Amino acid sequence: MALNNGGPLLQAAEDYIKTLLGSDSGGHDHFHALRVRNMAVRLARAEGADETLCALAALLHDADDEKLFPDTHAAQKHTVTFLQSCNVPPETVAAVCGIISQVSFKGADSVVPDTLEGKCVQDADRLDAIGAVGIARTFAFGGSHGRKLYDPDEPPRTGLNARTYRQGAGCTVNHFYEKLFLLKDMMNTAAAREIAGRRDAFLREFLNEFLDEWDGVC
Ligand code: ADP
Ligand code: NI
Repeated sequence: MALNNGGPLLQAAEDYIKTLLGSDSGGHDHFHALRVRNMAVRLARAEGADETLCALAALLHDADDEKLFPDTHAAQKHTVTFLQSCNVPPETVAAVCGIISQVSFKGADSVVPDTLEGKCVQDADRLDAIGAVGIARTFAFGGSHGRKLYDPDEPPRTGLNARTYRQGAGCTVNHFYEKLFLLKDMMNTAAAREIAGRRDAFLREFLNEFLDEWDGVC
């Protein structure tokens, strides 16, 4: 990426996202953005993608998240305004916005990013949804939305798309079936597939243990 101020710009993006997301208690706090940035750079290195572009898009990927900021989401207003305030060239603003617009999980409507950088950022965001941190984030989200931990009488939904995925208000365990268990096979990069294998196994082990305890068999 033709950016001669990568370092200061990335620091500014980190500061900006901390201000924007710092108080979120539903699993989308700024530490999520930092973990996604770290993982996106790791994947970019392994895959030969543009590390600065990946880092920038990863830091900003939730700045206009549909759930957190419904009013700015469509025009990616936070992202565009921040980047313009840093004098980022229009083609880089467009590249970052393009990556961010393809990140989200939407069930059957999920998009395979059309750039290598987009693939790295999407994989990094999804890796943060699984494994131990993913489990913690999922229950934090459920709690912050007033959801039950689990309800055996509420079966998970299948065949979800962009609209129906977001409409769900079921118990938090259902999120494992409706999204988390699907992510391992949706990874774009070989580097992420390897990490996802381990995290997915941990997810499944956790849920088996959870359900056994629930049923009083262990
Ligand atoms: P994306 O980041 O791909 O747009 P989401 O915003 O739907 O996807 O999910 C991000 C994270 O927020 C999930 O991985 C999970 O930790 C949490 N989350 C979202 N929806 C739910 C839900 N219904 N129940 C529990 N956690 C959720
Ligand atoms: Ni995210």
